[in-house]
Amino acid sequence: MSLNDFIKQLDDLVESASKRFEDAINQTDHQVLEETRVEFLGAKSGKLKEAQKGLGKVAKEDKPIAGKRFNEVKTRLEELFQAATDVITGGSKKGNAEAIDVTLPGLRPRLGHIHPITQTIDELKDIMGRLGFTAVEGPEIEDDWHNFEALNIPLEHPARDPLDNFYLNLAAASHGGGNQLLRSQTSTVQIRVMENNEPPIRIVSLGRVYRPDEIDATHYAMFHQIEGLLVDTNVTMADLKYVLRLFASSYLGGDVEIRFRPSFFPFTEPSVEVDMRWQDTWLEFGGAGMVDPNVLKAVGYDPEKVTGFAFGLGVERLCMRRHGINDIRYLYDSNTKFLAQF
Ligand code: DAH
Repeated sequence: MSLNDFIKQLDDLVESASKRFEDAINQTDHQVLEETRVEFLGAKSGKLKEAQKGLGKVAKEDKPIAGKRFNEVKTRLEELFQAATDVITGGSKKGNAEAIDVTLPGLRPRLGHIHPITQTIDELKDIMGRLGFTAVEGPEIEDDWHNFEALNIPLEHPARDPLDNFYLNLAAASHGGGNQLLRSQTSTVQIRVMENNEPPIRIVSLGRVYRPDEIDATHYAMFHQIEGLLVDTNVTMADLKYVLRLFASSYLGGDVEIRFRPSFFPFTEPSVEVDMRWQDTWLEFGGAGMVDPNVLKAVGYDPEKVTGFAFGLGVERLCMRRHGINDIRYLYDSNTKFLAQF
């Protein structure tokens, strides 16, 4: 008999024994258990005994391997019998109740994991909190007053285009006047906070925004922004620059440089794009500026008495830079194995 045939025979033996002992367990029957024991481990004509005969027929040089394997199989069959005996006797003591072996290792619970974006949000809140900014939230379903009108974005402005927004009532989108949409920016929260509070104001708001963008490596129809607003007497661009520099170096570490490029936003004047220099490249993170007097007026503030700055940055961008993630879809489409790294 060849070594391979012998080993194959032993493997088949283990497989059929596993099945038969399992049957005995399922039937919780001592009689079946005993029959199975005799069938496989019986001293005179059990299948194991039978298989042992094959050992004598393998070539001499194969004997050490064959013998070792035979002994392993013997142990395995004895274990199967022992395990079945334990279950069946344990079970009979408790009637039909399921036998519980308290000495078996437990099932390790699968631990949950905080999504990298949520981790980023928590960290950014923390950083801004240390600078004295209170974190507030606003609704994700907004009306056009908070998303546009009060932010100095008039009805004819292209930002209100139905193709660029998720209006809840598309037919009414071009009429303005209380129409609702999924907010396209967190700047909405500036208005909500100022409507309900007197200056000084110092808040950040982090949350989801929605835009029907084509999805690619840097765009997703839902993403997160961090919005900051500070309104007080004598607030200047220098304050904005200082706060953003502290913010950037706290999050990205080290001496991050900040660059402001002139830009336009309806709700700030002057307006800038915010770039940060990190690892030898300039990266754009969002916009900022001095709160437009029209916005201050819309919420009932006196622009002669108070001034303010505001900024809005992309949370995904910050998170992706920090972790070297090069495709936003990994954050939302990917399996949990990818996310578990963070
Ligand atoms: N809301 C702007 C956007 O979604 C970003 C932004 C720009 C926010 C300037 C601001 C700001 O607060 O001052 O693109």
